Amino acid sequence: MGKPRVLSGVQPTGNLHLGNYLGAIRNWVDSQYDSENFFCVVDLHAVTVPHDPTVLAENTRAIAALYLACGIDLSCSTIFVQSQISAHAELAWLLNCVTPLNWLERMIQFKEKAVKQGENVSVGLLDYPVLMAADILLYDADRVPVGEDQKQHLELTRDIALRVNHQFGTEDKVILKVPDPAIRKAGARVMSLTDGTKKMSKSDPSEMSRIAILDSPDEIRKKIKRCKTDPVRGLEFDNPERPECSNLLGLYQVLSNQTQEAVAAECAEMGWGQFKPLLTDTAIAALEPIQKKYREILDDPGYLDTVLKDGQAKANEVAQATLNRVKAAMGFSLPGV
Ligand code: TRP
Repeated sequence: MGKPRVLSGVQPTGNLHLGNYLGAIRNWVDSQYDSENFFCVVDLHAVTVPHDPTVLAENTRAIAALYLACGIDLSCSTIFVQSQISAHAELAWLLNCVTPLNWLERMIQFKEKAVKQGENVSVGLLDYPVLMAADILLYDADRVPVGEDQKQHLELTRDIALRVNHQFGTEDKVILKVPDPAIRKAGARVMSLTDGTKKMSKSDPSEMSRIAILDSPDEIRKKIKRCKTDPVRGLEFDNPERPECSNLLGLYQVLSNQTQEAVAAECAEMGWGQFKPLLTDTAIAALEPIQKKYREILDDPGYLDTVLKDGQAKANEVAQATLNRVKAAMGFSLPGV
């Protein structure tokens, strides 16, 4: 038996922030040696809401560079761009034709995003989860490490795979591998700096609500200085009355690689005036090596080109084999078959 397959992805919309890094990418990095990994930049997903064509390619490369800067290791992981593998869009079409419309209409994220788009809701926005299912199923992924907010999309992916297997497979000829969700614990969620009850998010209009991975030390200092706190002295985890306190302690915990007990003890008697500089220094120190590596990567565009070209070749081979398997099972004639 080979190593389990892992697939995950991030959309190339704007700058990655600490929530993306601590909640997703750092976990990919930490567990990458136990699996064979495919990490994609899901640029086809980025056009499901109105987008700026002049920055799409640049943002896509920036995310790929950040994967590398955060420590994704090419000896066990493949980094690639979704739109460069045509099997994603093709499988999405085939899956569209077996997915009941009402499965998509009840997706929470669709409903939330559709409200924000007002009149301008594309078919692509509704279809987003089917494309995501194609991303996952093409690679026979065993595990899909994502945040809590993607849970419903993963359940849908499983349901679609089971439906394809049921309609077109047999008991001993399974067509699509049904993946295990690898939802991380809610505790690993990074919340907004301006509201401890809301997730840190790229779509929050306020820059002050998040720390971008590429923020300068000055920006980090300013954001932590102004972030929301409370008038209570002494810091503690898990007090529902103090969501900001719990969030900032949690951030300090993961950025400094300590246990919750150690942080709880260290900060129990602190006031905000003492804690904020500590968190600031820790955040700056944690991000510094990533930022340095990121700059090195961008200084050598030829290197990133090579990484993405190799990634495309490797991903394409796996994806095309799965696509052909599905097409054959659905009764299409394949060239040369
Ligand atoms: N929908 C995911 C998100 O917003 C991004 C994504 C697209 C994804 N395709 C995927 C994540 C496949 C994991 C696997 O976070």
